[in-house]
Amino acid sequence: PRVAVVFGGKSSEHAISCVTAGSVLAAIDRNVYDVVPIGIATDGRWVLESGDPDQLRITGPDQLPSVDGDRAPVALAPEAASTGLVVTEPSQPPRTLGEVDVVFPLLHGPWGEDGTIQGLFEMAGVRYVGAGVLSSAVSMDKAYMKVVLAAAGLPVLPSTTVTARQWERDQPGCRERAAGLGYPLFAKPARGGSSIGISKVHDESELAGAIEEALRYDPKVLLEAYAEGGREVECGVLQALDGTPETSVPAEIRISGDHEFYDFAAKYLPEEHTELDVPANLPDAVTEQIRDMSVRAFEAVDGEGLARVDFFVLPGDRVVVNEINTMPGFTPTSMYPRMWAATGVDYPALVDRLIRLALQ
Ligand code: DAL
Ligand code: MG
Repeated sequence: PRVAVVFGGKSSEHAISCVTAGSVLAAIDRNVYDVVPIGIATDGRWVLESGDPDQLRITGPDQLPSVDGDRAPVALAPEAASTGLVVTEPSQPPRTLGEVDVVFPLLHGPWGEDGTIQGLFEMAGVRYVGAGVLSSAVSMDKAYMKVVLAAAGLPVLPSTTVTARQWERDQPGCRERAAGLGYPLFAKPARGGSSIGISKVHDESELAGAIEEALRYDPKVLLEAYAEGGREVECGVLQALDGTPETSVPAEIRISGDHEFYDFAAKYLPEEHTELDVPANLPDAVTEQIRDMSVRAFEAVDGEGLARVDFFVLPGDRVVVNEINTMPGFTPTSMYPRMWAATGVDYPALVDRLIRLALQ
């Protein structure tokens, strides 16, 4: 089968998507799959990438990989709607790169993980890996995600949203709602990822700065209660070929040094020493509860293929869902593949399973 691996994209997680793609491109079995690497530049242009995994690595805080927007442009051909996705080079004369059997959208954040590109693939009638339109959209928006998870009976942290317009017109009202959650609290872009634009707000004096920082990324900000003493535990969900959602062993993130939370540097920069316990050292009953809640969260958002569900384990072993990610990071340091490796599904098998699920 011919697989288009799509990565990069317009979101603030462009670089992470590139690193994810580098790992997947290195692991995909070329004896089974013919790979077409398609990069989306930060300005939205689609280009035919070299697909060289070595160029898709983070080598330092200021050395983040990106799609080379100067490469040959590619486009979806107009006949896509009837014959599936056809990738062409719209130069003179147009060179058809051929039909694609399945797309692997390794995109994080808006315009990739939020249902928009999934809608494009639906319209083109092409199969794709991972969550569909609704599932992607709901899971991208932290405010709606909580509504859906709570409606499914899953415990979530208290939160409120502040839109750019509310902040402009009614700051006292926004401050009052924040105070209702209590300090410290977190301010997050509603549709972000990789902790970009997130601040821990220690007291009211920091609120305006944190909201304005988050508003740089999204006109909607989630203010969320702080999980005092909460341990960060994550769990992978992967569908079996018969559709059953299976779960990985949960893992715990322990943040060391100067990081007050699992921020961007702690997540990705090689020199930052975040301790990952894979599997997490938890009582059996808590592990079971987390695995069970992961399946319920996956089903609540109508998940497909894969997801990573993030939890806080509060003192007294009370478990709350933090969020669900429909295209979790797949970088070499990422939790999702590490949790599956510890569960007996190694990286190439994981990639293969995801493509097979999409091809069914
Ligand atoms: N948004 C990042 C990639 C994650 O959830 O892993
Ligand atoms: Mg996320």
